[in-house]
Amino acid sequence: MSSRLIVSRRTLLTGAAGAATLAVAPALRSPAIAQNAPLKVGLMLPYTGTYAKLGKFIDDGFRLYVEQKGGKLGGREIAFVQVDDESKPEAATDNMNRLVGREKADVVIGTVHSGVAMAMVKVARDTKTLMIIPNAGANDATGPACAPNIFRSSFSNWQTTFPMGKVLADAGIKNVATITWRYTAGAEMIDAFAENFTKHGGKIAEKMTVPFPEVEFQALLTRVATLKPDAVFSFFAGGGAVKFVKDYAAAGLGKTIPLYGAGFLTDGTLPAQGDAANGIRTTLHYADNLDIPANIAFLKAFKDKTGNVGDIYAVQGYDAAALLDAGMTAVGGDDKQRDKMIAAMGAAKIDSPRGPLSFNKAHNPIQNIYLREVRNGRNEMISIAQKDVDDPARGCKLT
Ligand code: PHB
Repeated sequence: MSSRLIVSRRTLLTGAAGAATLAVAPALRSPAIAQNAPLKVGLMLPYTGTYAKLGKFIDDGFRLYVEQKGGKLGGREIAFVQVDDESKPEAATDNMNRLVGREKADVVIGTVHSGVAMAMVKVARDTKTLMIIPNAGANDATGPACAPNIFRSSFSNWQTTFPMGKVLADAGIKNVATITWRYTAGAEMIDAFAENFTKHGGKIAEKMTVPFPEVEFQALLTRVATLKPDAVFSFFAGGGAVKFVKDYAAAGLGKTIPLYGAGFLTDGTLPAQGDAANGIRTTLHYADNLDIPANIAFLKAFKDKTGNVGDIYAVQGYDAAALLDAGMTAVGGDDKQRDKMIAAMGAAKIDSPRGPLSFNKAHNPIQNIYLREVRNGRNEMISIAQKDVDDPARGCKLT
């Protein structure tokens, strides 16, 4: 057996510039047997860089669901091809074109970074490729750029932090400084928080940013100490979140100026953050201790498969597969029945580990946003900050 054939039966990950290689044997790609051929799922995720762990957990979550279904969705075998997008927007169009062009992926699952996702959305719209976003929150993907073939199993950036504006105002906090990376996700999450916080009487003391994916926070932390706001609100994720939370604690700020954030600040990061994360409150569409059967079963299965504790990224990967399953089941595995498949996905009601999950007309999740606090190395739910949060889908013509 040639090594090429071995590659053809498995997925292949290449690091450099995320180049993917052939992943399905030529015979399987013949149109005559297209229906019996596996559905080819292209995973375009960051497998290196500050978001590497996020990409890996999405990938693991997606594959876990498919494995639980015996390797098939809607009775159709699933094959994978994957590409490392490195969270680099400048390489995103080429990477996506390679997946839908040369690799002929039937559906693309991706990605984590909002800027990369928006480049993918453009290609998906142009080529009508079915796409499920398993993380990136770029508001526009289910706003002005919404399309029938584009779904999201995660959140919009607006959705995750809007509820926190009211939570902080209700807690009597008047004056907040914000810190984030200077790119779409950071800007949109801070804006949504500020929108609701100022609506409830709060004031933004100062908005501070560092370029993505830099982690030099010292100057900003010095500035926080000078400003002395009532609190800091922040978005970082992955490796950057680990460093930020540790630096914040090391600067001695945690005791006087409480740190709040989008839940990504402490999700999937707690083992590396240790005590520095204790007491941090965040909002997110997940909490580790959600005491519902779907979450308990998911966490056990994920641990059994990977040896790791599941997090929001794993959940979003798992639910992306569940969403695809809803479509594939409705058409008995025949993804060429496109309209019927899309209608079934749009109407899907998923019993997610995060709680009830359905979709609005722009194909963005409608879901609870939880207020959580880091205790005992876990993001424990304090309350539902806002129930059934539905992104306004501003600018989406489908709604
Ligand atoms: C994004 O770029 O949209 C993004 C990245 C990482 C997160 C959340 C959002 O944890």
